[in-house]
Amino acid sequence: MSSLADKRLLLGISGGIAAYKSADLVRRLKDRGAQVRVVMSAGAREFVQPLTFQALSGNPVHTDLLDPAAEAAMGHIELAKWAELILIAPASAQVMAKLACGMADDLLTTLCLASEAPVALAPAMNQAMWRHPATAVNAQTLRERGVQLWGPAAGSQACGDVGPGRMLEPADLAQQAESLLSGSSDCLRGKSVVITAGPTREALDPVRYLSNHSSGKMGFALAEAAQRAGAQVTLIAGPVNLATPAQVKRVDVVDARDMRAAAERAADLCDIFIGAAAVADFRPATMAEQKIKKREGCDESAIALVKNPDIVAGIAARSQRRPFTVGFAAETQQVEHYAQDKLQRKNLDMIIANDVSSTNSGFNSDRNAVTVIDRHSSTHLPQALKADLARQLIEIIAAKAQP
Ligand code: PMT
Repeated sequence: MSSLADKRLLLGISGGIAAYKSADLVRRLKDRGAQVRVVMSAGAREFVQPLTFQALSGNPVHTDLLDPAAEAAMGHIELAKWAELILIAPASAQVMAKLACGMADDLLTTLCLASEAPVALAPAMNQAMWRHPATAVNAQTLRERGVQLWGPAAGSQACGDVGPGRMLEPADLAQQAESLLSGSSDCLRGKSVVITAGPTREALDPVRYLSNHSSGKMGFALAEAAQRAGAQVTLIAGPVNLATPAQVKRVDVVDARDMRAAAERAADLCDIFIGAAAVADFRPATMAEQKIKKREGCDESAIALVKNPDIVAGIAARSQRRPFTVGFAAETQQVEHYAQDKLQRKNLDMIIANDVSSTNSGFNSDRNAVTVIDRHSSTHLPQALKADLARQLIEIIAAKAQP
């Protein structure tokens, strides 16, 4: 039976072209057994008719705060108490700004203030609006208050732009709602977890570096999931452009040697260490003090590299204060074979292998598919949003890390 069976979900729809996708979302939530009531902002009603949502949800659509007839049927306070989850999809830049300020000037924003249910937003807007510092601050304020932000995804937009700002697909949102309402366990209550995330940058000269395409999304999703599961989390992040998950301690680093120093310090007091960072295996043997110049007539050049310290192997090699140590393996071929080899060679307790040969999974993507390997078993987790996968991984790691 779906964990949305009989769950009471209030779907808020704000103004944006993605509102048409919300019709499919209602259908998917209903298919999973949820009771759905829809609240539409004035902007949303410019894009889609309330009748569509009434037909799909089987309930009248709520639109006005001060409508006596609607209030007599199910008043806004009653509606706020009815909801077990408020999901706003699409969530426009405007609705995010209003919620961040605590405004209550229409039915949807009033319900969010009046309800004690968890609130999740599926942002959808033009990529420049999403990147705008005002939206970034609003998003961070909401996160810090415990509001969940699901997405946005990146890709081509209705206006012709390309970038972050697309609403997640209805199937993914329904999955996220199901994961949230299936009850987050506190499987890591009282535990301390250290996670490395993102790439490292190895300087060649003051303006150039060697690095890779890691976005940090996988490690940040793990940090958020571990914190929600009750852990105290330290996130050691290479150079990435991501907001810090609520109540997570973040340490920013640049290169592999900085990351190792931060990891060794933090690991002294931790129970679980997860190496999700894509650490550069090599760095330039020397860093030029000045920008390296092109030389006349010189069409080739070589860079001498030296090996970086292996951070996760160093943690796993400890004889004292050794945490349960988990590595990741990013492979483009023979994924399980190479991951097994790293598990043994680095003396890890567990390794999470991801196939990074495809562009819609692994590096710099919102999705991933992994195989969790320890010395006795191997479990495949099919492709899912990194946030969803992170919750599953944290459950598995918590169970295996039990003393
Ligand atoms: O950041 P995203 O865009 O979300 O992408 C996520 C990811 C694909 C980067 C992530 O899921 C992942 O696979 N991270 C590990 C990538 C990697 O570099 O794998 P590796 O096979 O080179 O290293 C194996 C393990 O050793 C990893 O845990 C790595 O953190 C660790 N390592 C590697 C080298 C080094 N010098 N020190 C290390 O600790």
